Amino acid sequence: MKIEKISKNIGAYIYDFDLKEQLNPETAQRLRELVLEHEVIFLKNQSSLSPKQYLNLASQVYTPMHHPFISEKDPLVPGISPFQPHEGLSEITGIRHGRKNKGNLNEWHSDLNWLEQPSQTSILRALTLPKVGGDTLWASMSAAYDDLSEESKANLENLRAFHDFTQIYRGCFEGEKGSLERMQALFPRQAHKIALRHPLIDKKAIFVNRVSTTQIVGMSPEESRDILEPLFLLAKTPEYQVRYKWEVNDIAIWDNLLTQHYAVSDYWPEAREMERISIAGIDLNKAAV
Ligand SMILES: [Fe+2]
Repeated sequence: MKIEKISKNIGAYIYDFDLKEQLNPETAQRLRELVLEHEVIFLKNQSSLSPKQYLNLASQVYTPMHHPFISEKDPLVPGISPFQPHEGLSEITGIRHGRKNKGNLNEWHSDLNWLEQPSQTSILRALTLPKVGGDTLWASMSAAYDDLSEESKANLENLRAFHDFTQIYRGCFEGEKGSLERMQALFPRQAHKIALRHPLIDKKAIFVNRVSTTQIVGMSPEESRDILEPLFLLAKTPEYQVRYKWEVNDIAIWDNLLTQHYAVSDYWPEAREMERISIAGIDLNKAAV
């Protein structure tokens, strides 16, 4: 496999790597290491994988999970547009936008960070792309943390913030009387450290975003906002970013604790169809190795 770093802080292209092949344990380990090192990697020039091959690939490297709200076995809610489970392989979540469903993921965030054990990694592949546009950006929140002053790092050291799915998904429960309360009981807001030490690598990252972070533990909303707002803006810094122009069948794998991402919504009314596999949550209290 050939690895080409894209920028100083984040991103690498991976070439000459046929995902149709069965991965050996060393290669799977290498892929996990590359994701932790580069924070997002792009597997390019892939031939078309069937959904089963795609899930098989993910399962050889990580432990895939169902989206907490979209389980085939226990459909807690019918499905959250634009997220739809793949029929028969519900660890694969289809993310489809088009004429009737304009792209709406254009805010910096990480995936499933409102769980007690946030999803460690996301895998995304491109199935249908607009003629132009539909890029995705990622930002290294570890680079953002590293660039903070020592004073700022010290101030953040013991702060925790609440992460709550309600902010993102409230609209999906309209008309589903009782469901929102039921889901809130199943997935109550979680307090995570703002300056989060990654359990698997010696890196710290800013782990708050405007989409799902609501308030700092022990502070008023106003005090919280004064601290959180400048942190939310860090992902917008070009030096921390990589912007990826997709080709059909490309696969991106990223670490949700080290990065945030942003899906550019500039292609309406054209269609853009992606498939995501979320990787099981990680115990944030585990010691770094
Ligand atoms: Fe996302």
